[in-house]
Amino acid sequence: MKILVFENKEEASFYVAESLKEVIQRKLNSTEITVLGLATGSTPLETYKILNRFYDNGDISFKNVVTFNLDEYYPISPNSVNSYRHFMNTKLFFKTDIPLENTYIPSGDIEPNEIKEHCVKYDDLIAEHGGIEIQLLGIGLNGHIGFNEPKSQKNSLTRLVALSNTTRIAASDAFGGIDQVPEKAISMGIKSILRANKIILMAWGTHKAEIIKKLVDFEVTDEIPATFLKEHSDVTVILDKEAASALPQNAYTFVEQTINQ
Ligand code: GLP
Repeated sequence: MKILVFENKEEASFYVAESLKEVIQRKLNSTEITVLGLATGSTPLETYKILNRFYDNGDISFKNVVTFNLDEYYPISPNSVNSYRHFMNTKLFFKTDIPLENTYIPSGDIEPNEIKEHCVKYDDLIAEHGGIEIQLLGIGLNGHIGFNEPKSQKNSLTRLVALSNTTRIAASDAFGGIDQVPEKAISMGIKSILRANKIILMAWGTHKAEIIKKLVDFEVTDEIPATFLKEHSDVTVILDKEAASALPQNAYTFVEQTINQ
Protein backbone atom coordinates (compact mmCIF):
# COMPACT_ATOMS: atom_id res chain seq x y z
CA MET A 1 0.00 0.00 0.00
CA LYS A 2 1.36 3.37 -1.02
CA ILE A 3 0.35 6.14 1.43
CA LEU A 4 0.20 9.74 0.25
CA VAL A 5 -0.58 12.57 2.64
CA PHE A 6 -1.81 16.02 1.60
CA GLU A 7 -2.17 19.32 3.41
CA ASN A 8 -5.98 19.06 3.32
CA LYS A 9 -8.83 17.12 1.72
CA GLU A 10 -9.23 19.68 -1.06
CA GLU A 11 -5.66 19.11 -2.31
CA ALA A 12 -5.97 15.36 -1.77
CA SER A 13 -9.26 15.21 -3.69
CA PHE A 14 -7.76 17.26 -6.50
CA TYR A 15 -5.03 14.64 -6.85
CA VAL A 16 -7.65 11.85 -6.98
CA ALA A 17 -9.84 13.73 -9.47
CA GLU A 18 -6.79 14.37 -11.68
CA SER A 19 -5.97 10.64 -11.65
CA LEU A 20 -9.54 9.84 -12.75
CA LYS A 21 -9.47 12.58 -15.40
CA GLU A 22 -6.29 11.15 -16.88
CA VAL A 23 -7.79 7.67 -17.27
CA ILE A 24 -11.02 9.05 -18.74
CA GLN A 25 -9.25 11.40 -21.15
CA ARG A 26 -6.93 8.67 -22.40
CA LYS A 27 -9.91 6.86 -23.94
CA LEU A 28 -12.04 9.84 -24.90
CA ASN A 29 -11.41 9.66 -28.62
CA SER A 30 -11.77 5.93 -28.91
CA THR A 31 -14.74 3.61 -28.60
CA GLU A 32 -13.24 2.09 -25.46
CA ILE A 33 -15.04 2.60 -22.18
CA THR A 34 -13.60 3.53 -18.80
CA VAL A 35 -15.05 1.52 -15.94
CA LEU A 36 -14.94 3.25 -12.58
CA GLY A 37 -15.85 1.84 -9.19
CA LEU A 38 -17.47 4.59 -7.13
CA ALA A 39 -18.12 5.15 -3.44
CA THR A 40 -20.60 7.23 -1.45
CA GLY A 41 -20.36 8.92 1.95
CA SER A 42 -18.83 12.30 2.74
CA THR A 43 -15.29 11.27 1.76
CA PRO A 44 -15.58 11.30 -2.08
CA LEU A 45 -17.79 14.43 -2.17
CA GLU A 46 -14.95 16.83 -2.89
CA THR A 47 -13.62 14.56 -5.65
CA TYR A 48 -17.05 14.55 -7.30
CA LYS A 49 -17.22 18.36 -7.03
CA ILE A 50 -13.89 18.67 -8.82
CA LEU A 51 -14.97 16.20 -11.51
CA ASN A 52 -18.09 18.34 -12.02
CA ARG A 53 -15.84 21.34 -12.44
CA PHE A 54 -13.64 19.52 -14.96
CA TYR A 55 -16.82 18.68 -16.88
CA ASP A 56 -18.13 22.27 -16.72
CA ASN A 57 -14.76 23.53 -18.00
CA GLY A 58 -14.99 21.13 -20.93
CA ASP A 59 -11.89 19.20 -19.80
CA ILE A 60 -13.67 15.91 -19.54
CA SER A 61 -16.66 13.98 -20.82
CA PHE A 62 -18.30 10.96 -19.21
CA LYS A 63 -19.86 9.72 -22.47
CA ASN A 64 -17.64 6.63 -22.49
CA VAL A 65 -17.65 6.06 -18.75
CA VAL A 66 -19.42 3.20 -17.01
CA THR A 67 -19.70 3.24 -13.22
CA PHE A 68 -20.37 0.60 -10.59
CA ASN A 69 -21.14 1.73 -7.07
CA LEU A 70 -20.05 -0.30 -4.09
CA ASP A 71 -23.29 -0.58 -2.21
CA GLU A 72 -26.87 0.44 -1.43
CA TYR A 73 -29.02 0.25 1.67
CA TYR A 74 -31.70 -2.46 1.73
CA PRO A 75 -34.55 -1.95 1.66
CA ILE A 76 -34.64 1.60 0.33
CA SER A 77 -36.39 3.34 -2.53
CA PRO A 78 -34.08 4.91 -5.15
CA ASN A 79 -36.10 8.11 -4.62
CA SER A 80 -35.28 8.30 -0.92
CA VAL A 81 -32.89 11.18 -0.20
CA ASN A 82 -30.81 8.73 1.82
CA SER A 83 -30.42 6.21 -0.98
CA TYR A 84 -27.02 5.95 -2.57
CA ARG A 85 -28.79 6.16 -5.96
CA HIS A 86 -30.06 9.62 -5.00
CA PHE A 87 -26.62 10.59 -3.68
CA MET A 88 -24.85 9.61 -6.90
CA ASN A 89 -27.48 11.15 -9.19
CA THR A 90 -27.38 14.49 -7.40
CA LYS A 91 -23.65 14.70 -6.57
CA LEU A 92 -22.28 13.48 -9.88
CA PHE A 93 -24.39 11.80 -12.54
CA PHE A 94 -27.01 14.52 -13.21
CA LYS A 95 -24.25 17.14 -13.35
CA THR A 96 -22.34 15.44 -16.16
CA ASP A 97 -23.06 13.86 -19.53
CA ILE A 98 -22.83 10.29 -18.25
CA PRO A 99 -25.64 8.19 -19.76
CA LEU A 100 -27.71 7.12 -16.74
CA GLU A 101 -27.93 3.59 -18.12
CA ASN A 102 -24.13 3.38 -17.71
CA THR A 103 -24.43 3.90 -13.96
CA TYR A 104 -24.87 0.74 -11.92
CA ILE A 105 -25.80 0.69 -8.23
CA PRO A 106 -27.21 -2.33 -6.40
CA SER A 107 -31.01 -1.99 -6.23
CA GLY A 108 -32.45 -1.31 -2.80
CA ASP A 109 -36.05 -1.86 -3.88
CA ILE A 110 -36.10 -5.40 -5.22
CA GLU A 111 -38.06 -8.23 -3.62
CA PRO A 112 -36.20 -10.36 -1.07
CA ASN A 113 -36.41 -13.40 -3.35
CA GLU A 114 -34.68 -11.48 -6.15
CA ILE A 115 -31.64 -10.46 -4.14
CA LYS A 116 -29.45 -13.49 -4.76
CA GLU A 117 -29.80 -13.34 -8.52
CA HIS A 118 -29.38 -9.56 -8.52
CA CYS A 119 -26.07 -9.90 -6.65
CA VAL A 120 -24.69 -12.59 -8.94
CA LYS A 121 -25.67 -10.45 -11.93
CA TYR A 122 -23.91 -7.41 -10.44
CA ASP A 123 -20.52 -9.16 -10.28
CA ASP A 124 -21.15 -10.68 -13.73
CA LEU A 125 -21.94 -7.25 -15.18
CA ILE A 126 -18.67 -5.85 -13.86
CA ALA A 127 -16.80 -8.73 -15.48
CA GLU A 128 -18.71 -8.30 -18.77
CA HIS A 129 -17.54 -4.68 -18.86
CA GLY A 130 -13.93 -5.82 -18.54
CA GLY A 131 -13.62 -5.21 -14.81
CA ILE A 132 -13.10 -2.02 -12.82
CA GLU A 133 -10.14 0.11 -13.79
CA ILE A 134 -10.05 2.36 -10.72
CA GLN A 135 -12.02 1.65 -7.56
CA LEU A 136 -12.60 4.53 -5.13
CA LEU A 137 -13.09 3.66 -1.47
CA GLY A 138 -13.79 5.42 1.79
CA ILE A 139 -13.33 3.65 5.10
CA GLY A 140 -15.82 3.15 7.93
CA LEU A 141 -14.84 3.80 11.54
CA ASN A 142 -14.68 0.04 12.11
CA GLY A 143 -12.55 -0.52 9.01
CA HIS A 144 -15.35 -1.48 6.65
CA ILE A 145 -15.01 -0.91 2.92
CA GLY A 146 -18.22 -0.67 0.95
CA PHE A 147 -20.51 -2.28 3.49
CA ASN A 148 -18.14 -5.14 4.19
CA GLU A 149 -18.34 -5.07 7.95
CA PRO A 150 -15.88 -6.83 10.31
CA LYS A 151 -15.89 -10.62 9.74
CA SER A 152 -16.50 -10.20 6.02
CA GLN A 153 -14.55 -12.84 4.19
CA LYS A 154 -11.83 -12.40 1.61
CA ASN A 155 -13.75 -14.47 -0.96
CA SER A 156 -17.02 -12.56 -0.49
CA LEU A 157 -18.87 -11.36 -3.58
CA THR A 158 -21.80 -8.96 -3.92
CA ARG A 159 -24.40 -9.96 -1.34
CA LEU A 160 -26.94 -8.89 1.24
CA VAL A 161 -25.18 -7.87 4.48
CA ALA A 162 -26.28 -6.83 7.96
CA LEU A 163 -25.08 -3.39 9.03
CA SER A 164 -23.16 -3.10 12.29
CA ASN A 165 -24.28 -0.81 15.10
CA THR A 166 -21.30 1.51 14.55
CA THR A 167 -22.32 1.93 10.92
CA ARG A 168 -26.00 2.48 11.71
CA ILE A 169 -25.16 5.04 14.39
CA ALA A 170 -22.87 6.88 11.94
CA ALA A 171 -25.82 7.08 9.50
CA SER A 172 -28.50 7.89 12.06
CA ASP A 173 -28.33 11.71 11.76
CA ALA A 174 -28.91 11.58 8.03
CA PHE A 175 -31.86 9.21 8.45
CA GLY A 176 -33.34 11.15 11.37
CA GLY A 177 -32.75 8.50 14.03
CA ILE A 178 -31.21 5.05 14.26
CA ASP A 179 -34.64 3.40 13.94
CA GLN A 180 -34.89 4.83 10.46
CA VAL A 181 -31.55 3.39 9.28
CA PRO A 182 -32.05 0.16 7.31
CA GLU A 183 -30.61 -2.90 9.01
CA LYS A 184 -29.22 -4.30 5.81
CA ALA A 185 -27.47 -3.35 2.61
CA ILE A 186 -26.35 -4.90 -0.65
CA SER A 187 -22.59 -4.56 -0.98
CA MET A 188 -19.91 -5.61 -3.40
CA GLY A 189 -17.77 -8.16 -1.60
CA ILE A 190 -14.10 -8.06 -0.67
CA LYS A 191 -13.31 -10.27 -3.66
CA SER A 192 -15.38 -8.05 -5.97
CA ILE A 193 -13.36 -5.04 -4.77
CA LEU A 194 -9.97 -6.72 -4.98
CA ARG A 195 -10.62 -7.58 -8.64
CA ALA A 196 -10.20 -3.89 -9.60
CA ASN A 197 -6.97 -3.00 -11.42
CA LYS A 198 -6.24 -0.09 -9.14
CA ILE A 199 -7.70 0.95 -5.79
CA ILE A 200 -7.69 4.39 -4.16
CA LEU A 201 -8.80 4.58 -0.53
CA MET A 202 -9.39 8.08 0.85
CA ALA A 203 -9.82 9.27 4.45
CA TRP A 204 -10.08 12.72 5.99
CA GLY A 205 -10.26 14.10 9.52
CA THR A 206 -9.02 13.20 13.00
CA HIS A 207 -11.94 10.81 13.54
CA LYS A 208 -10.38 8.54 10.89
CA ALA A 209 -6.83 8.68 12.35
CA GLU A 210 -7.27 5.68 14.64
CA ILE A 211 -8.68 3.32 12.01
CA ILE A 212 -6.01 4.43 9.53
CA LYS A 213 -3.33 3.62 12.12
CA LYS A 214 -4.86 0.16 12.56
CA LEU A 215 -5.07 -0.34 8.80
CA VAL A 216 -1.33 0.37 8.55
CA ASP A 217 -0.24 -1.56 11.67
CA PHE A 218 -2.39 -4.68 11.53
CA GLU A 219 -1.69 -7.80 9.51
CA VAL A 220 -4.52 -8.86 7.20
CA THR A 221 -7.51 -9.63 9.42
CA ASP A 222 -11.25 -9.93 8.92
CA GLU A 223 -11.65 -7.80 12.08
CA ILE A 224 -10.62 -4.85 9.90
CA PRO A 225 -11.85 -5.61 6.39
CA ALA A 226 -9.78 -2.78 4.84
CA THR A 227 -6.61 -4.77 5.70
CA PHE A 228 -7.52 -7.16 2.87
CA LEU A 229 -6.35 -4.36 0.57
CA LYS A 230 -2.80 -5.26 1.59
CA GLU A 231 -3.12 -8.30 -0.64
CA HIS A 232 -3.69 -6.14 -3.74
CA SER A 233 -0.70 -4.94 -5.75
CA ASP A 234 -1.93 -1.43 -6.62
CA VAL A 235 -3.51 0.35 -3.67
CA THR A 236 -2.97 4.02 -2.86
CA VAL A 237 -4.17 5.40 0.46
CA ILE A 238 -4.83 9.14 0.21
CA LEU A 239 -5.03 11.06 3.48
CA ASP A 240 -5.22 14.59 4.75
CA LYS A 241 -2.89 15.56 7.60
CA GLU A 242 -5.54 14.86 10.26
CA ALA A 243 -6.29 11.32 9.10
CA ALA A 244 -2.52 10.67 9.00
CA SER A 245 -1.91 12.20 12.43
CA ALA A 246 -1.46 8.86 14.25
CA LEU A 247 1.08 7.54 11.70
CA PRO A 248 4.85 7.92 12.05
CA GLN A 249 6.23 10.26 9.39
CA ASN A 250 8.25 7.50 7.74
CA ALA A 251 5.02 5.60 6.96
CA TYR A 252 3.98 7.97 4.17
CA THR A 253 5.00 10.44 1.49
CA PHE A 254 3.83 14.03 1.90
CA VAL A 255 2.66 15.51 -1.41
CA GLU A 256 2.48 19.23 -2.16
CA GLN A 257 -0.40 19.58 -4.57
CA THR A 258 -1.35 22.74 -6.40
CA ILE A 259 -5.00 23.12 -7.27
CA ASN A 260 -5.48 24.43 -10.80
CA GLN A 261 -8.92 25.92 -11.26
C1 GLP B 1 -20.60 4.13 4.46
C2 GLP B 1 -20.33 3.63 3.05
C3 GLP B 1 -18.85 3.44 2.80
C4 GLP B 1 -18.11 4.70 3.27
C5 GLP B 1 -18.29 4.86 4.75
C6 GLP B 1 -17.57 6.07 5.32
O1 GLP B 1 -20.68 3.10 5.35
N1 GLP B 1 -21.01 2.43 2.72
O2 GLP B 1 -18.63 3.20 1.42
O3 GLP B 1 -16.75 4.57 2.95
O4 GLP B 1 -19.67 5.02 5.00
O5 GLP B 1 -18.36 7.20 5.21
P1 GLP B 1 -17.82 8.68 5.20
O6 GLP B 1 -17.09 8.85 3.90
O7 GLP B 1 -19.03 9.54 5.27
O8 GLP B 1 -16.91 8.81 6.36
